[in-house]
Parts: sequence; structure tokens; C-alpha cells
Amino acid sequence: MSFNRYLITAALPYANGPVHIGHLAGCYLPADIYVRYQRAQKRDVKFVCGSDEHGVPITIRAMKEGITPQQVVDKYHAIIKESFEQMGISFDIYSRTSNKIHHETSQAFFTKLFNDGAFEVHESEQYFDEEKQMFLADRYIVGTCPVCSNDNAYGDQCEKCGSTLSPEQLINPHSALSNAIPVKKKTQHWYFPLNKYEDFLKEWIVEGKKNEWKSNVYGQCKSWLDSGLQPRAMTRDSNWGVPVPLPNAEGKVLYVWFDAPIGYISATKELTPMWSDYWQKEDTKLVHFIGKDNIVFHCIIFPAMLKAHGSYVLPENVPANEFLNIEGDKVSTSRNWAVWVHEYIKDFPEQQDLLRYVLCANAPETKDNDFTWKDFQTRVNSELSGNFGNFVNRAFVMMHKLCNGRVPVFHNDIINDIDKALITDIANAKTLVESAIENYKFRDALSEIMALSAKGNKYLQVNEPWNLVKTLADTPDNQKRIDNSIHLSLQLCANLAILINPILPFTAKKMCSMMKVVERMLDWENAGRVDLLKVNYPLRTPEILFPKIEDTQVAAQVEKLNANLVKSKVETTPAKQEEAPKAVEKKAEIQYDDFAKIELRVGTILHAEKVQKADKLLKLEIDLGYEKRTIVSGIALHFNPEDIIGKQVTVVANLAPRKMRGIESNGMILMAENKDGKLIFASPIEKADEGAEVK
Ligand code: 2FM
Ligand code: ZN
Repeated sequence: MSFNRYLITAALPYANGPVHIGHLAGCYLPADIYVRYQRAQKRDVKFVCGSDEHGVPITIRAMKEGITPQQVVDKYHAIIKESFEQMGISFDIYSRTSNKIHHETSQAFFTKLFNDGAFEVHESEQYFDEEKQMFLADRYIVGTCPVCSNDNAYGDQCEKCGSTLSPEQLINPHSALSNAIPVKKKTQHWYFPLNKYEDFLKEWIVEGKKNEWKSNVYGQCKSWLDSGLQPRAMTRDSNWGVPVPLPNAEGKVLYVWFDAPIGYISATKELTPMWSDYWQKEDTKLVHFIGKDNIVFHCIIFPAMLKAHGSYVLPENVPANEFLNIEGDKVSTSRNWAVWVHEYIKDFPEQQDLLRYVLCANAPETKDNDFTWKDFQTRVNSELSGNFGNFVNRAFVMMHKLCNGRVPVFHNDIINDIDKALITDIANAKTLVESAIENYKFRDALSEIMALSAKGNKYLQVNEPWNLVKTLADTPDNQKRIDNSIHLSLQLCANLAILINPILPFTAKKMCSMMKVVERMLDWENAGRVDLLKVNYPLRTPEILFPKIEDTQVAAQVEKLNANLVKSKVETTPAKQEEAPKAVEKKAEIQYDDFAKIELRVGTILHAEKVQKADKLLKLEIDLGYEKRTIVSGIALHFNPEDIIGKQVTVVANLAPRKMRGIESNGMILMAENKDGKLIFASPIEKADEGAEVK
């Protein structure tokens, strides 16, 4: 199908903290590259985003900082917006969901579904804080982690050991707002029956998108659909959010994942009176750029909502990226393990393209990737500066030295195979880069551009204009070779500027200034041509495109990360995303050596007993054949001690001992968790010898 307009969205970040480079690599940079490319193709494109200002993450942050949610979103909306602007993320609009237009749009959406009978009303029991007279989201309930005994675990997760929890699993649960012990209270909500959209989603995704969507995205959707969809509450008890537009709905707001994606529609409305063309005409290509934690919302829930509404286009593609780790460790806003964009800009002023380059070259497009400052240095110094920057600089310096600072003529009569090969390479690069970007393979696009610039370096190396000039007196024809090699090198510079523009727009702009051409030259249709710079046209002296990154800068950044990590123990707050339903969460790839460090052995449970004053813990005695071990495990809610005696289990035998409730635990037993939270022993299928190594 051919499209007449493009609507590109990037996930609305929660306005509960600044953005880090993982956010950039996850969706904002790829979206920006795609949009800049489409604009260079002179296509009708709108790029919308804004702050997601509702939901639990905002209220938690407000609580921690002792300010109101509105103050929180005002503060972070401004910081985030500025970070994006400075990094050259070229939204047509960066809106916010606390805007009136968004409240009206999302309420109208809800009302339409309500009037069409699309919701079901269900009553459920939720935790309630009687002192504060309010319902508590899981995050508002704190207590002791049954797994690691951390006293500050949340009702949905322990930040210390990473366990996923439910409020029922916490030891001594209490309200984070008042310390009161939460009680269960009945409440009524409007549920969207996702199960009724299963057939539609299966046909649309499994039949229609299998070969178009990235395999990580398709795989997650398929696994959601295979395990069956459930009705999902689209309202919450809270005083922060978009009020439910129904009578008798006081104290209820729209679920943040109901209103946030509608934010894309509101932002488009705010941007242009023609908004409905982008949302309601079939020849619009709607593409959502997101991180992998948002896949279910954008591929399952929002499309089902759009389908139920009936008047909107569905996304053509949802090219979600995986996560970017930092120095080998997962980004953690609570531990302040992150490289913040506003800090990068402060530390590397005017050097946005260095970061854009590294984040694109190392983008987590198919798996989690790692950002390290050392790699940043290597990529900038040897690739960006050593290859691209070096070629452009050499071409300009030679032109000034050997051709009077003007674009020399190209002598067709002496064109040779090396010239012809370069001309073909330039034409091919356009096609290759274009196809990579159209297919959301931004890393590939960048590596094609870098390969072309490497060919430019080789071309100069083979032609050696600096040597030809030495024998000019004896062989006057040499001037023709010098002219040709510099002419083509300069045409290649112009092409590199066009191709790199979507990825490194600041660099492309600088190159235009060096070539004294208007930025219109960067239009995509000009790529592949070798007549872009006019003969005899005087060009500027080159400026160094990329600075070298020094060892001291790398050391300073690593030190800063570590220093912040320590400081954060006292002053930062968690910023977990709102109640993402669980999906298959793949971990970063490891090497065999990493795996080989873990000693897994078969053991048999000899004895099991409850740990006093710890509802969730069982003290197990495990026979490993060569010795007996005491292991404390957080499985008491799932098994009666007497039922598991004699069971064979897989034990992590070389885990460092740790004390839980005063008992030293020497190892861990492996469990699998079903979608419904049920735990199952990861035991050998056939009976094995005690102590047998699992490998
Ligand atoms: O994960 C997040 O940061 C969410 N605020 C993304 C919302 S995207 C869209 F639905 F608005
Ligand atoms: Zn824990």
C-alpha cells in the first residue's frame, strides 16, 4: 500500500524524572532519524510526542519530594523538553497530558466506548488506607521482602533483589502514605474486555504483521495472544489523572495506559487543524517508536481501543528497541545508574552528534546492548573522527593546497576504473541507506555510510594527490589526476552530508556551511549524484568535525557514575513504569564463561519448616549427596512444608551465603513462575543422583 502521509510517535516519557541515554537509544533517536529521513524525502510527516503526566510514578515522585503532582510534572516536563531540543530530537510538537485538550480528547474517547457498551463493570477488592481514606496502588504498599528481607520492598517489586512481588507477599505490609496497615475494600471499575478483541488481534498481527514487524515485537505479541487476553480495568481510584467522565465516578480517573496513548491524538490535534487526516485517513502510515517494555500497550491494548472506537487508523509498525545497559549494569533510576541527557549536554557542550553516533552505532535494535564510556571514546576517536571526519578534512585540505580552494574540474577524458567504482559506490549507498532506514535498521544505515566514507579514504590513498603534485613539473598530466581525485572526493563529501543528515544533523549542517551550500542540498533526491558541487566554486577552510575524546574525560564520566550511585542510596526514588503487565523479559546475552561460573546441582529436600515471624519463608534442608545444606526460600505461600519432602530440586550451589531472619542460607533453589504467579520447582524430569551437576 502506498502512503500519502506519515504520523510518527515516540513514547510519551513519564514526567517524573529527567531522560537518560537509554531513553534516547530506545525510541527517541530512532524515531528522529526516521522522521528526518522522511522529511528529506519531502514526505508529509508529523512527529508527535509529549510528557506522560499521570499515573502512579508521578504521585510517588511527588510524595518523595514533598511537592504536589502538578509541581512534579511542571518541573520534569521542562527538563525533558529541553533535553530533547538540545539533542536535536525534532518533534513537531512536544505536548503534555495535563493539557485541557488531552483531558477532553481522552474523556471523549472513553465516553464513546462507554456509550457503545464497550466496557464491563466489575467489582474487586483493593487495598485501602483508612487513615488517608484512599485506595493504594501496589507501589504505595511497603514492607519486608520475603526473598531478601529488604525492609523497603514495594507491593509490586523489591528494588534490592529485583523480585516481582504482590502486596500479599510482603512481610508487615503498611501504607507508604500513613504507615497504616492497609485493609481490603470493595471498589468498582470499568474494564475493557480485551478477550473480545483476540480474534481481531490475531488476524491483524499473526496473519498481517508477522513478516513486517521486528521479531522481538512480533514474538512478544504472539506470546500474549497465545496465553489469552483478559479484561483490563481502564479506571483507577486516584485523585491524579483524567477524571472518569461519568456521573457517580468521583475519585476515579482513567487508567494511565488508557489516557497516555490517546496523548498521541491530542498532541496531533494541538499541532494542526488537519489532525484528522493523520488519524482517520487510511493512507496514513502510523508508526509508534517505543522501548520493549511498552510493546503490549502499543500492539495489543491501544490497537484494540482504536478498533473499538472505530474511527482511527491502526499502527503500520511498532519498531520497539530493547534496552541499553550502562557499563555492564541495567539502568536503574532508583540507584541513579544512568547517564542523564542534560548532564551529557553540560559535559559535552555542542557535541550532540557524538552521542547520537554512538547510540545509533550501538543501538539495542535486536537485543539489549551495553554503553560504556570506553566504547564511546573508541567509536568517536577511531570511527567517527578517524574515518568520517578524517576523510572530509583530507578532501578539503587537499582542495585548498592543490586546487586553489576551489572545486576542480572533472576531466572525463581520463576517467579510470577507480573513479568509476567510486561513482557506483556513491549511487549504491543511497539505495542501501534508504532501504535500511525504511526497514528501521538504523545501525545498518550508519554502517553503510561509514563504509562509504572508508571507501573515500581508500580512494584518496590510492590516488595520492599529495605525491602527484611532487612530479607535476615532469608530468603535467598529473594535474588532471589531482583534479579528478579531489573533485570526486568533494562530491563524496556532499553525499556523505546528505546521507548522514538524519543521523547526525548537526554535522550535516556544519558540512553545508563548509561547502557553502544551502541546506536544501540535503534533500534526499540529491543523494547518489556527483555533480552537487559546482566546478570552480570556492569552499571554506575545513573545521574539525569531531573532537577527540581524551582518557581523562572517560575516567571522569566513569567516576561520576560511581559517585552518583553511592549518593543515590539516600536521595533518589524509584521511577518504575506503571503496572506493565508481565511479558517475556529477555536478559542481555551472556558468554559461556558467564554461565560456567554458576554451579547448579541436583538436591533433594530432606526437611522443610516455616520460619517464625516470616509468613513467606521456608527453611529447607537439602541433600546434595556430598553434603547437606540449609537454604531459606521465599516459597512458603505456595507449598506446605510436608508436601515437598523428598522433592528433587535444582540448587545454585555456589551462591554466597546470606542471612535471612537470622538463618544463614547457603544457596538457592530454582523455581519457574507461571503467568498466574504459581511457582513450580525447576526439577530434573527424571530422578537424578544427589549432587549431579546441571550443565
Ligand atoms: O513507559 C513509559 O515511560 C510510558 N510513560 C510510555 C507511554 S507511551 C504512550 F502510550 F503514551
Ligand atoms: Zn528483595
